[in-house]
Amino acid sequence: MLKTKVSIVLSILFVITDLTLAATTVFNVVKLGAKPDGKTDSTKAFVKAWNGACGSVNSAAIYVPSGRYLIKNLLFNGPCKNTNIIIRINGTLVAPTNYNVIGNSENWIAFQWVTGVSIYGGTLDGKGIALWACKLAKKKCPEGATSLSFTNSKDIVINGLKSLNSQMFHIVINGCENVYMKGLMITASGNSPNTDGIHVQLSTGVTIMSSGIKTGDDCISIGPGTRNLWIEHIACGPGHGISIGSLAKDLDEQGVQNVTVKTVVFTGTQNGMRIKAWGRPSRGFVKGVLFQHAVMKNVQNPLVIDQNYCPRNEGCPNQVSGIKISQITYQDIQGTSATQVAVKFDCSTKNPCQGIKLENVKLTYQNQPAVSMCANADGSAHGIVEPAGCF
Ligand SMILES: *[C@@H]1O[C@H](CO)[C@@H](O)[C@H](O)[C@H]1NC(C)=O
Ligand SMILES: *[C@@H]1O[C@H](CO)[C@@H](O)[C@H](O)[C@H]1NC(C)=O
Repeated sequence: MLKTKVSIVLSILFVITDLTLAATTVFNVVKLGAKPDGKTDSTKAFVKAWNGACGSVNSAAIYVPSGRYLIKNLLFNGPCKNTNIIIRINGTLVAPTNYNVIGNSENWIAFQWVTGVSIYGGTLDGKGIALWACKLAKKKCPEGATSLSFTNSKDIVINGLKSLNSQMFHIVINGCENVYMKGLMITASGNSPNTDGIHVQLSTGVTIMSSGIKTGDDCISIGPGTRNLWIEHIACGPGHGISIGSLAKDLDEQGVQNVTVKTVVFTGTQNGMRIKAWGRPSRGFVKGVLFQHAVMKNVQNPLVIDQNYCPRNEGCPNQVSGIKISQITYQDIQGTSATQVAVKFDCSTKNPCQGIKLENVKLTYQNQPAVSMCANADGSAHGIVEPAGCF
């Protein structure tokens, strides 16, 4: 009898100790040798922290204290032994000043095959300015690295992260499931080449909330194989807007389905809400998109579907886009266009756009009604629609 009691008490004690331990497995990068001086290479300390956290059978945390840490290419590889890793960043991760160090690899900081990783806070400084200058001068330069990428991963949170001056894209979500991003601040100059803010592809259940994106290419770009994407409360500009595309790059391509983009303010952007496909054969499609509650402030092409994308006339002239576009709704879109054509639906002769719905759209150009243009587009208008639909 007594023996049983003791063993119950012991096992309860054991559970409590276990839980306490689980909550306190913290890997502090400074304790592992990182130097917050912005010039000592701290990559190894971050790798050690990851190996510790990823190898832990209990949930783990990585802590990056305030300060600046020089970081070269970092691969956070899974699968891990646990599915709850918190990375709390109070400091700034700085890329090497010489853009060649990371510029020939696809990613600067990459996660792959991970489940249950959450990043809170922190700044990533990609140091991309010199590389952009090289590209703009049309010199020979490396393509540049994406600052942060998640590939083949699941249950990811990125909350309160700042990304500054990425060489190429800021953040890429590729082949992932259930990704929640919130409170991101993404900044690069308006003329920086290919600095897309967030690129999503081949991923399901991605959410992007309450974020500010100022960059030189698309604020958010949505590639093939994106499903159940939710974007809400975004300030975009400068930048090229929010784009589904480019699609039809390949013949065999997965479709884009069930995308919601709501409550976005576009300021001085090249596009507002855009769907863009190469004029090339493809099995891809776009189906079920809701663009809702947008304010356009001096946007060059507020609403645009372009199925004849063919930059530099290479590999596409005289071909038509195979992408099928259907069920696209624009609801409550207000503001100003920087060009006379505020609504342009230029669809494929082979696959006309179907089920475009315009509802309460009011876009002006220099205090006059703007103009709409349609080719091979079928749809309907509801409520006040200015410029009037051209179906
Ligand atoms: C790290 O930053 C968070 C959020 O700003 C703050 O709550 C926390 O106290 C910071 N940690 C330290 C040790 O400064
Ligand atoms: C569409 O995506 C949203 C998340 O963005 C999800 O909540 C909803 O269930 C999806 N709808 C369908 C029919 O899959």
